Amino acid sequence: MSGVGRHVTVLLREAVDALAVRDDGVYVDGTFGRGGHSRAVLASLGKSGRLIALDRDPQAIAAGREMIDDPRFELVHAPFSDLGAVLDELEVGEIDGVLLDLGVSSPQLDDAARGMSFRFDAPLDMRMDTSRGQAVAQWLAEASVAQITEVLREYGEERFAHAIAKAIAVARTGGAVATTGQLAALVEKAVRTREPGQHPATRSFQALRIFINQELTELSRVLPVAVERLAAGGRLVVISFHSLEDRIVKRFMRDESRPPQLPSRLPLRAVDLPAPRLALVGRARRPDEDEVAANPRARSAVMRVAQRQGMRA
Ligand SMILES: C[S@@+](CC[C@H](N)C(=O)[O-])C[C@H]1O[C@@H](n2cnc3c(N)ncnc32)[C@H](O)[C@@H]1O
Repeated sequence: MSGVGRHVTVLLREAVDALAVRDDGVYVDGTFGRGGHSRAVLASLGKSGRLIALDRDPQAIAAGREMIDDPRFELVHAPFSDLGAVLDELEVGEIDGVLLDLGVSSPQLDDAARGMSFRFDAPLDMRMDTSRGQAVAQWLAEASVAQITEVLREYGEERFAHAIAKAIAVARTGGAVATTGQLAALVEKAVRTREPGQHPATRSFQALRIFINQELTELSRVLPVAVERLAAGGRLVVISFHSLEDRIVKRFMRDESRPPQLPSRLPLRAVDLPAPRLALVGRARRPDEDEVAANPRARSAVMRVAQRQGMRA
């Protein structure tokens, strides 16, 4: 079955250890993928524990339903920015941990039909949730040169963003840019200097994928909801694969783990200020050499962990 591709889980032990799973705790895996982290959480949970997993990809959901049959486990097809609504629907109040293993899974990248990779020639789609939204080909057919340039610059840090956007606009006057192969060939011509070891279309493909899936907006939306729902002592564990994602996570955790910055002339004592909601747990962690050697997709991973402060109810 094409939906049940293999995904090698990154920082498996480290992420599950960081959740500090309690026997009877309630946990959320916001990025089920092929369930590598979810299965390890279930193995650590006791009989009365509970795991709620989300994924926006219908194929991940179908694969998960085939893979895991466990009364402690619920799998929901939803973007993780809907976490609050999903928990309300399931009548779950506080949770003991949230794990986010961001980005795309290997089955998404390796299935030509998803149109996420320049390694195969396929319809230019790139949506994680194939049941809604616009494919990249549709967006490229309508977007202005300025909009395309901005996306390539902002999410791909692509130096040749404007040249690529213009090449796309010229090409589409003769017919749609409808396939990954067409886009890769256009970008290859427009990019004048090559980065060693990298296909010239890497940055453009990544930028369009991040944009079409609104990946950074999703992340910025879920973090405050996760903290709001965490019980005292509950853990937030986030694995990022892109510097733009990691910057959002790092800033969020930093801001939530220090007292509000007020002008020094205000007559307030430290005890009068609201206590920070989070405490950082350790430093950012990266996969070791052995993991990267065994799984090159792990090379850009960064994991950050924080703990909800306060007294347990
Ligand atoms: C890196 S994979 C997770 C792999 C998983 N931890 C495992 O071990 O199998 C990321 C998954 O998160 C999903 N995903 C990414 N962004 C999402 C979002 N905003 N909401 C829900 N799922 C998302 C993707 O569809 C993909 O299946």
